[in-house]
Amino acid sequence: MSDQTLTEAGTNINTNTEADTGADPERAYWAGWQRSWDRQQEWYLPDREERFRVMLDLVEAVTGPAPRVLDLACGTASITGRLLTRLPQASSVGVDLDPALLAIAEGHFRAEPRLTLVTADLREPDWTAALPAGPFDAVLTATALHWLSAEDLLRLYRDVAGLLRPGGIFMNADHSPHPASALLNAADRALQRRRQAEKQASGVPDWSRWWQLAAADPRLAEAVAARSTLYRDHQDGATHSAEWQTARLLESGFSEVAVPWRSLSDALVAALR
Ligand SMILES: C[S@@+](CC[C@H](N)C(=O)[O-])C[C@H]1O[C@@H](n2cnc3c(N)ncnc32)[C@H](O)[C@@H]1O
Repeated sequence: MSDQTLTEAGTNINTNTEADTGADPERAYWAGWQRSWDRQQEWYLPDREERFRVMLDLVEAVTGPAPRVLDLACGTASITGRLLTRLPQASSVGVDLDPALLAIAEGHFRAEPRLTLVTADLREPDWTAALPAGPFDAVLTATALHWLSAEDLLRLYRDVAGLLRPGGIFMNADHSPHPASALLNAADRALQRRRQAEKQASGVPDWSRWWQLAAADPRLAEAVAARSTLYRDHQDGATHSAEWQTARLLESGFSEVAVPWRSLSDALVAALR
């Protein structure tokens, strides 16, 4: 990342502490991209850290201090980063299709024995074949499953049930508009737009700008070009209410489903195998 790119991305690798990077310049470089990814995601999800906190509270409560976790559609592995800091005995498998986001995760978590990264397309019926052998104690995912068609999502629910040990937990934090509150949803969207304008004024890039910045980094350019042949971004996907998700998860092999956190636009849905 050039100095100009860093400034525009609203991050600065020089602020990384030794604890963040182990005094490893290569790791510090990718930690800069990780931080800018987090800030870009917060553009859309001001409550993102709160969602992660509630998710990890429940992981700890259900699985104890040493869970084996699958970070589904992990991107840069933001969930895994928070998991490993909070529960040092945990381990994680991160799975995603995006070569650029996986490159950032690989750089940021290099020499981290507790994380294994896997490339797979969740739309493919045999995607679980790419994973190390299960079972997992927890499968966690955030801001990703709305990229999938309802058909692929229902198949994925069954796949995830098959990957979890009995008593294991699946948690999905994602866009999930409340179906019966159109006026409140509109008011909430207007507030978010005002907040986003403030972020833009302070130099935080939105999704499109972030990808332009990534494409301009010679170390990411090839992967960014490759991703455009893999995705049509969100074109096939759909958001679902927490109620829809609850009903479908109960039909897909889960015994109990709850919504431990929600806002007007988002929900964290937790399902016990
Ligand atoms: C908005 S990002 C969220 C990433 C991460 N969970 C986070 O919270 O920062 C959505 C992620 O879903 C991944 N994804 C979407 N469709 C996918 C698919 N069919 N197979 C694998 N990963 C997919 C994308 O590559 C991207 O990393």
